[in-house]
Amino acid sequence: MNELLDQYQAVFGDPEYQTNNRISLLANTSAFIMTLVPDLNWAGFYLWHKKHQQLELGPFQGKLACSQIMTPKSVCGQAFHHQEILRVANVHDFKDHIACDSATNAELVLPLSDGTRRYGVLDLDSPRKNRFSQADAEILKNLAALVTQQLTQCHPFN
Ligand code: SME
Repeated sequence: MNELLDQYQAVFGDPEYQTNNRISLLANTSAFIMTLVPDLNWAGFYLWHKKHQQLELGPFQGKLACSQIMTPKSVCGQAFHHQEILRVANVHDFKDHIACDSATNAELVLPLSDGTRRYGVLDLDSPRKNRFSQADAEILKNLAALVTQQLTQCHPFN
């Protein structure tokens, strides 16, 4: 896990993976996370749709997931609404949790914001209870900051 940020910069600094298309960026970032972070069953993005005033499913790896999330409902909705990292040891104890995959037991959600614009959230699910440590959350917070930095360079879609 400690090498994750160096690996991200090495991969996304490579011209083959550089892009200013946010679907391409987030699709490859989901694949990157799913490949390198152990014990996940879902990794991906929910993006804020300003006109619809809701989070909408973006690129991801894993099983089918709900297409829209109303804030501040659910883990993703609450993390986005309060712009806070949510590290949930057992999702079954979390009120309003949306169960997309019954195998999921732990969840980590990180808001993507550059301080001015709120892009959405990065969501990671694990079948293992208590999967995400405080140290994991710190590393993934830095990864989310790198992804956000790349998003600021992407073409806007809506
Ligand atoms: N569990 C999330 C919904 C998204 S899925 O995990 C992919 C939530 O409660 O916000």
